[in-house]
Formats: sequence, structure tokens, C-alpha cells
Amino acid sequence: MDPYILDWITMLIRWLHVVTAMAWIGASFFFIHLDASLRPEPDIEPGTGGRTWQVHGGGFYEMRKYAVAPARLPAHLTWHKWQSYWTWISGFFLLTTVYYAQSQLFLIDPAVMALTPLQAAAIGMGGLLAGWLVYDGLCRSPLRADDNLLALVGFGFVVLASYGFSKVFSGRGAVIHTGALMATIMTFNVFFVIMPNQRKTIAALSAGQKPDPLWGEQAKARSLHNNYITLPVIFMMLANHYPVTYADPAIIPALTALVILTGAMIRHFYNLRHKDHDKSPWWAWLVAALAIWTAFFVAASASPGWREKLGLAPLPEAPLVHDAGLRLPPPEVVAIVEGRCAMCHAAQPFWPGLDNAPYHVLLDTPQHIAVQAAAIQRMAVMTHAMPPGNVSAITARERGTLARWLAGS
Ligand code: HEC
Repeated sequence: MDPYILDWITMLIRWLHVVTAMAWIGASFFFIHLDASLRPEPDIEPGTGGRTWQVHGGGFYEMRKYAVAPARLPAHLTWHKWQSYWTWISGFFLLTTVYYAQSQLFLIDPAVMALTPLQAAAIGMGGLLAGWLVYDGLCRSPLRADDNLLALVGFGFVVLASYGFSKVFSGRGAVIHTGALMATIMTFNVFFVIMPNQRKTIAALSAGQKPDPLWGEQAKARSLHNNYITLPVIFMMLANHYPVTYADPAIIPALTALVILTGAMIRHFYNLRHKDHDKSPWWAWLVAALAIWTAFFVAASASPGWREKLGLAPLPEAPLVHDAGLRLPPPEVVAIVEGRCAMCHAAQPFWPGLDNAPYHVLLDTPQHIAVQAAAIQRMAVMTHAMPPGNVSAITARERGTLARWLAGS
């Protein structure tokens, strides 16, 4: 597809994705806070819920929770589910248009594994589905009797999955698939467990039967998992815009573990604080800070510039591995790109202030230039976004040369 059109499409899908995700996470944080701020009041029978008051937008809101269900179901009931479903649907389209439609740029790294685009997409989607099935199986296994053990095993499983992704995809592809797996678990928890169980409860109550307490327990366990992975998921989604986090696929499992720990600790702090201000677990911030501090050093140990600063031995030069069928650009194109772009877009850029190639886009060898052809077209021919502010003074004639090469290839 025309890269210019593709950019517009992904821009619009991303817009939708971010908006729905904000609505979902906003609602989720709101209800966690609401639940924790409920107080028993004299007119409410103990154990059947509570009440709280809020003020917002010039009005006062009296909120009353009914622990299982009210005696009579109201005629009008708002369900919060479409925020979650739309976040997943738009996220899946974004994954498809960015990573599966442009897998040569963002998903496949021949130095990790020489996949065809079809294989890469199949592994990506298959990995998400298989990951959900394993997680769901764990939640239904005898492990469910122990919340903490289940959480620990689930955590280990996500880290293992990130290791698996880092063995087949580029660093960026591994980071986004780890995030997508966590996000898929969250939405599928809503779709396959939380919502159906809520409906079963309502059906039982409407039929005058007692709802099975297992339905509530299952839904609560899944909601708790969703709560603790909310922040790590957002980190993983943003990480694919920062090569500092994914430049080396080997660090991704450790990064995943540390980011989940950081995000879960911050959530833990707020979960307990909303319940009782005086019992805020301040130690959770200490663990979170240590975890993210460690994540920084894990990532820095993969950066050539930072290895030097940290006094570590330089990493061995990675062998250049490329698709044998690649059509290499002619020498005049290589000269332009190496002269106008490679000072920033190299494994070790020498442009002051850059430590990594932006977006890990490498333009320092004929092979790298060939792989990035569509990106060069988008950033330096169809738009003049690159070089930024034309700092390296590319001329109109040189852009013309790039355009003729791109039109011919
Ligand atoms: C002064 C340093 C510098 C030079 C020179 C430079 N770039 Fe970039 N490039 C950047 C930065 C910084 C970004 C990240 C921009 C951002 O964050 O939006 C980037 C991003 C990119 C991207 C990725 C954009 C994306 O959204 O995926 C491409 C492709 C790219 N540059 C191509 C080029 C080409 C082609 C040239 C030469 C014609 C070039 N760049 C010259 C600094 C540079």
C-alpha cells in the first residue's frame, strides 16, 4: 500500500485506540476508587454494600453499592464493556497495519530469525491466542485456590512469553507483542469471564435463584489481575516508541519483569490507600523505584555508549544478516543517505545528544537503506519530515534522486 495512505490510516486508528484506552482505564480507575471509598451507613445492612459521595462538574453524586445485587433490578442499567472491547479491536487493527503490514520494518529481524511476513504475522497472532489460552487454563487450574500463587505464576508466564517473542521478533516486535498479550488477557477477561458471569448472576436473580458464588469469585480474580497489569501494559505500549527499551531483544524478558513489578507496586499502593489513607503502603514506592532503576541499568547495558560510561566491555559487533533477495540501492543513493541521515541513524550515532538510532531506524549500510526504503519514502520524499529541520542540508536535487530510486524499486 502507498506508505502515505498507510500513515494516515494508522494515525486514525491510533487516535481511536488511545481515546478508547483512556476511557477504559479511566473507568477502571474510577470504579476501583469508588469501591474502596464506600462507607457503611446506618441504613445499609452490614455486608450488603456501602455509600459514598462525590462532587464533580458542579453537581453532587450519591453513590450506593449493592454487594451482590439490589432487591429489584432497575429498568436502566449501564454496562461498562465497550471501552475495553474497542481498545482491543482498535489495538488489533493497529498491530495489523503497523506490524503485520510492515513486518519487514518493524517486526522481523533476520539476525534473530529469518521469517517471512506471513510466518511473522501467524506467530504474532498465534502467540496472542495461545498466551490467552495458557493464562485462562492457569486461572481455572487448582492454582485458583491461592490468589498470590496464581498471580506469581501468571507473572512468570508473561515474562516467559516475552522471552519467546524476543527469540522470534525484532526487539520492537517483541515489546509490542508482550504488551499486546497482556492487553488481550485484560479484554478477554472482560469478554469471556467478567461479563458472562455478571449476566449469569442477573439471570439467576431474576429467576429468583441464588447466584453461584463461584461466578463472583472468578470475576473478582480476573478484575484484580486486570487492575495490577494496567500500568505495565501502558508502559509496554509506549515502549515501542523508545528504542532505549527495545534496541536489544535479549533484555526484553528482564525489562518486562521489572516493568510489571514497578507498575503492580504503584497500583498496590493506591489500592490500599483508597481503602485506608492512614495505611498507605509507602514501601511499595521504594520497590517500584528500585525496580525501574534496575530496568534502566538493564537497558543501558545494551547501549554501546552507556556500556562505556558504566565501564563495561564493548559488545561484540553484531553480524549483518539480511534477506538474500534484497535489492540494494545504487551508489549515489547510498552516498546521499549516508551523508544526510546516517549521522543520526546508525547503531552508534555521532550526532550530539543521540545515543540510539531514533526508532532504531538504521541507515548506515546499503542493506539497511534497502530495508528502510518505504520509511525513507515516507519521511524524506513524500514529506520533508526528515532530516529534522533539514539540519544536514539535504537538497531538492538529492530528494529527487531518492524519489527516482524509490519509484524504480
Ligand atoms: C539530526 C538527526 C537526524 C537526521 C540527520 C535524520 N534523522 Fe530521521 N529521525 C531523527 C529523530 C530524532 C527521529 C525521531 C522523530 C520522532 O521522535 O518523531 C527520526 C525518525 C526517523 C524515522 C522514523 C519515523 C517513524 O515515525 O517511524 C525515519 C524513517 C527517519 N527518521 C528517516 C530519516 C532519513 C531518511 C533521513 C535522511 C534523509 C533522516 N531520518 C535524517 C533524527 C534524524
